[in-house]
Amino acid sequence: MVKKKIVVVIGTRPDTIKMAPIILELKKHEDCFDVVTIATAQHRQMLDQVLEVFRITPSFDLDIMAPRQTLASITAKIIAGLDEIFITEKPDMVLVQGDTTTTCIGSLAAFYNKIPVGHIEAGLRTSDKANPFPEEINRRITGCITDLHFAPTQTAKMALLKENVDPKTIFVTGNTVIDALDYTVNQHHSFSEPVLNSIAERGGKIILVTMHRRENWGQPMIGACNAIKRLANKYPLIDFIFPVHLNPIVRDVVFPILSDLPNVTLIEPVDYLDFVNLMSKSYLILTDSGGVQEEGPRFGIPVLVLRSVTERPDAVDYGTAKLVGLDEEKIFSTAVQLIDHKIEYERMANATNPYGDGLSAQRTIKILKNFFGFSDEVVEEFIPQ
Ligand code: UD1
Ligand code: UDP
Repeated sequence: MVKKKIVVVIGTRPDTIKMAPIILELKKHEDCFDVVTIATAQHRQMLDQVLEVFRITPSFDLDIMAPRQTLASITAKIIAGLDEIFITEKPDMVLVQGDTTTTCIGSLAAFYNKIPVGHIEAGLRTSDKANPFPEEINRRITGCITDLHFAPTQTAKMALLKENVDPKTIFVTGNTVIDALDYTVNQHHSFSEPVLNSIAERGGKIILVTMHRRENWGQPMIGACNAIKRLANKYPLIDFIFPVHLNPIVRDVVFPILSDLPNVTLIEPVDYLDFVNLMSKSYLILTDSGGVQEEGPRFGIPVLVLRSVTERPDAVDYGTAKLVGLDEEKIFSTAVQLIDHKIEYERMANATNPYGDGLSAQRTIKILKNFFGFSDEVVEEFIPQ
């Protein structure tokens, strides 16, 4: 049979981490697929960190990132850049991942060129168009266009069915974020960031923090940082490590509140290897990140989710995460309760990881092979164990 050309579109740190296992798995099936990777480079440094870890060299790089870019400006650059490449490359399918502007506009550019779309991590919904902003709408637009929906969980599948998506086009694969973790965790990891090695050597408790979401900019993020400051003062023997996102809007809030505390370490975004290994050594995670709240449960690390709603209810339902919102007092008191009460902490730490078993990319590629008629293998859905 003639090989099919699969174009994989990536652009930011999270979509690239989660797409990396798909790219690597596709490359194992070169008898069936030609793989073309397009990086929009909506992120630059944070994208390059991921590409380096997974040793992926994009076939095309639109290099669009600008400091303090707007949603409209990146939308315009991405659609023009992708359109040009799609016209010349003529892919048989475009794969996009998640909920970024790269994802949404990647699917739109494919639609304009009448190319089928596969959406990795399909079906995450909050039903609140302002939360997460603009990701909820990015997901809904991508979902309308998508031909093959790779849903990470049954919850995501149900959300798609509620929108009358054809059940024959939905496949529960688990989340490739867990596949990506399995490439990278190493018991004997030496951090490339020296300060992390000295903190790890001390062997004390680590609380890992990340924050960047647009809907949390301003007052909500200030409240969360104030809660972290109070926690750091209350627990001087705990190390708080916060790799601060490169967005200047985030940095303008975080540094003034947290930079002068002896047990708070503010560092630049660390590469994925360092981050994952840091996460595995952490005691507790406070985050508004999507990916991090999926990864924490894989290591049995309780996660406090700094959001008012979540499109990832599974972790909360399984008991590995708590949705604490952005209220300073609520964040502070929930963290204190976990730190001071072993039973509650252990309950969260021992809950089942609902997100994947490390085989999501394999399932996805089998489904693609079936779609294009290379095989007709029955692919079992992912079920959390
Ligand atoms: C984007 C995604 C968000 C995702 C997040 C992951 C959209 C709309 N948002 O948000 O869903 O959760 O990435 O981190 O797609 N910057 C750099 N270097 C980098 C990356 C960012 O300097 O490597 C700075 C730049 O000033 C840039 C700004 O951060 O203009 C914002 O980047 P952008 O991709 O627009 O938004 P994020 O908040 O990163
Ligand atoms: N991550 C990383 N370095 C960091 C912080 C996070 O490699 O300093 C990874 C993390 O393991 C996760 C992903 O980045 O896989 C999450 O990205 P982010 O929080 O930026 O985006 P979101 O998942 O919220 O869209």
